[in-house]
Amino acid sequence: MNKLKITLALAFCVSTTVAHAQAPDKGNAAAGRQKAVAICSGCHGMPGTKTAFPEVYSVPKIGNQNEAYIVAALRAYRSGERYNSTMKALASSLTEKEVLDIAAYYAKTDAQSGASGK
Ligand code: HEC
Repeated sequence: MNKLKITLALAFCVSTTVAHAQAPDKGNAAAGRQKAVAICSGCHGMPGTKTAFPEVYSVPKIGNQNEAYIVAALRAYRSGERYNSTMKALASSLTEKEVLDIAAYYAKTDAQSGASGK
């Protein structure tokens, strides 16, 4: 009986740990800002920006976007679930922490002012 209780307790611990690991962690917006300004703002910093490669393509606005949405989008680009050559390369270059940090930053920022850091 005791053995069963211990097993159940352990199983519970393991499952809550796993659940916690999968819960969207909160990123650090200040750390994300530096990366975002350096890497992302050239395309996502101004309204109506278009990329010229591999084709002329409108860049979506991500400022004030839902944090979980940005994290999900970046993970999807990285895994190939969502495909865009530019974003695949960029998302693949980010660590998981950078993804969370950048998402936290953009969720709090209007990207139109994000480029200038205001
Ligand atoms: C060279 C230009 C360019 C740069 C630099 C760039 N992006 Fe993108 N991004 C795009 C384009 C183009 C799309 C639209 C792709 C598509 O249709 O899926 C996009 C899409 C996205 C999306 C999905 C938006 C949506 O509405 O679904 C997110 C999130 C995103 N980018 C985040 C970032 C982050 C974070 C960075 C910096 C690490 C970054 N991007 C850097 C061009 C760029």
